Amino acid sequence: MPARETRLWAVDTPNTSYVVALDDHDRLHGLHWGPRLAPEQALALLDLPEAPFRPVVDGCDARLDLSAASAFRYGHNGLQVRFADGTRDLELAFTEAAEADGALTLVFTDRHYPLEVRSTYRAFTDTDVIERSLVLRNTGTEDIEVVRADSATWVLPELETPRLGQLHGEWGAETQLTRTAVPHGETVIGSRRGITGHQANPWVAVDDGQTTETRGPVWSTALAWSGTWRITVEKTPRGRVAVSAGFGHDPVSIRLRGGETLETPVCAGLHTDGGFAAAAGAWHDYARAHVLPHPDEDRPVLYNSWEATEFDFTAEDQMRLAKGAAAMGCELFVMDDGWFGSRTHDGAGLGDWTPNPDRFPDGLGPLIEHVHGLGMRFGIWVEPEMVNPDSDLYRAHPDWVYHQPHRRRSEVRRQLVLNLARPDVAEWVHARLDELLSANAIDFVKWDMNRPFTEAGWPGEDDPDRLWFDHTRNLYAILDRLRADHPALRIESCSSGGGRVDFGILRRTDQVWTSDNTDAVDRIAIQEGFAQVYPARVMGAWVTDSPNPWTRRAVPLEFRFHVAMAGALAVGGDLRVWSEEDLARGAELVADYKRIRPAVQHGRRRPLRAGAVAGVQYDRGDRTVVLAWRRSRAFGYRDPLLKLHGLDPGARYRERGTDRLHHGAVLLSHGLDLRLDPGDYASAMIELVREA
Ligand code: DGJ
Repeated sequence: MPARETRLWAVDTPNTSYVVALDDHDRLHGLHWGPRLAPEQALALLDLPEAPFRPVVDGCDARLDLSAASAFRYGHNGLQVRFADGTRDLELAFTEAAEADGALTLVFTDRHYPLEVRSTYRAFTDTDVIERSLVLRNTGTEDIEVVRADSATWVLPELETPRLGQLHGEWGAETQLTRTAVPHGETVIGSRRGITGHQANPWVAVDDGQTTETRGPVWSTALAWSGTWRITVEKTPRGRVAVSAGFGHDPVSIRLRGGETLETPVCAGLHTDGGFAAAAGAWHDYARAHVLPHPDEDRPVLYNSWEATEFDFTAEDQMRLAKGAAAMGCELFVMDDGWFGSRTHDGAGLGDWTPNPDRFPDGLGPLIEHVHGLGMRFGIWVEPEMVNPDSDLYRAHPDWVYHQPHRRRSEVRRQLVLNLARPDVAEWVHARLDELLSANAIDFVKWDMNRPFTEAGWPGEDDPDRLWFDHTRNLYAILDRLRADHPALRIESCSSGGGRVDFGILRRTDQVWTSDNTDAVDRIAIQEGFAQVYPARVMGAWVTDSPNPWTRRAVPLEFRFHVAMAGALAVGGDLRVWSEEDLARGAELVADYKRIRPAVQHGRRRPLRAGAVAGVQYDRGDRTVVLAWRRSRAFGYRDPLLKLHGLDPGARYRERGTDRLHHGAVLLSHGLDLRLDPGDYASAMIELVREA
């Protein structure tokens, strides 16, 4: 038997260790995910007593880091295959461990069948996030069916009252945060829609049931994938918890032909102490340091024309809106849907990516010049994965959409999904976009995707299930290619609002459209959930008209701005009908935002709450920004003070504008007087500068 040191590995981050070790059957156990351990401390884990004996053979439920289907495994298996002769069980033997560029790879091969499994753990010096993935290689000649290949199974320490945080939702109500006790058995969240989905975001956080915003441990994990996915949280009868995450959904499997490899997307895991805010902050830092393509840039204040015009506009309307946007201080003007083909309503033209000749008889040039002349960048909406049946593209290529023989082609918003998994379709999509971007001085693309897959078939293809994976891979490849060939281009990911928000798409886009719901009151919950994982700088937030076109709720301009200023501020109202007073006040608030933008977009976020008052604090260097809001105030009460976090108790903070002086110790223990208007929908923005 080899020395035990050679069968145990600790993946160390600045503050944590994730420790795995092989048992006598070469099963890889997760021994520790928590505070950082020195090597001899990690080794001492092997001396801890095993769980008490039970007279039933032990399948190591929720204790295996590489949870392959094999004998006595009756819980969730992160790795499941079927070999050509029908055998489903794996017998993995450890072959080697390799370390390179901060990554540890443990290699296993099946004792009989030609399958190699490589499990990789990547740690960094500036974050406690560990990135994991699997690579499967068919070293034989016959096909292997991969039923499940989770990127990672994370083994949690024993917790008496584990609690699960998740982001669920629907269109117009994305990223709703809930925390509930982890039930026994398997809790599965995921998407079967072809996209990340509004219904669940690929992130979960487990805590010990006592963790608060500012105190306590959190174990969280996020999957970097924009197609279908599944996260399984398993709690054994004895209360052990493991979280397994990967791409694909049942009943879809992947065919691995002889000589082929399958690489899973990255699953990132993070252990933090210091409460939910610390966990969220660590995710934001990770996104900026290791995910986003241009983290040091400021996201511009954009204007988007969708709510102002929907499909009903001319080039002159866009120019008028652009003029209003520029006067308000916007830096990027985005023309939304309706500019191309016969797309004057949602029933026609998708797929025909040339300017509508009635609206743009001289092409896009005059509008782009107008926008650039106003000192703004120009952005444009596209939905490249889609086609309206009433379009030249569909008339020429009716077989380019997902479909199944003898089944109807279900339409959503009168459109069908292009089979982007087909290499020729992916090539065509890339060529059209490349042409559009090469022929026009377009600085920004809003890439939309407005419907889930149905009848996801590919007649003529002998492995049609691969469309579920290749669609997303080809989408990524197109984005990567466009970025490489148009380096100044910036991209927004949209999918009927926030239907495609994950670390996979964020690796190749610059921001996302958070939700089609632009009601500032509803937005508070959406933004709070979003911020559990993703940083404010990618969270597109428009200020739109009042009453809100969707909810008919009338909310003051300041409240709408203050909520949107907690993210990547944008304007999306019909500026042609805004009063002079609102236009002028809007311009002041945009200017305010530009001043606080470094703290919001690059700083540390801390959620704040005191009774009916809620808000966020952003800190960067000597600046602290507080954005706070309150819906209504009860009769006879004054608004509570809002306690801040993370300040230096011994320091003094000067309030910009009023010159009031605050003491750190008082702000931390008693709070900040926001001096809110007593009426409904009151809000405030307060900037504090630490005195030298
Ligand atoms: C859905 C998006 O979420 C909206 O912002 C808008 O771009 C429409 N699609 C346009 O069709």
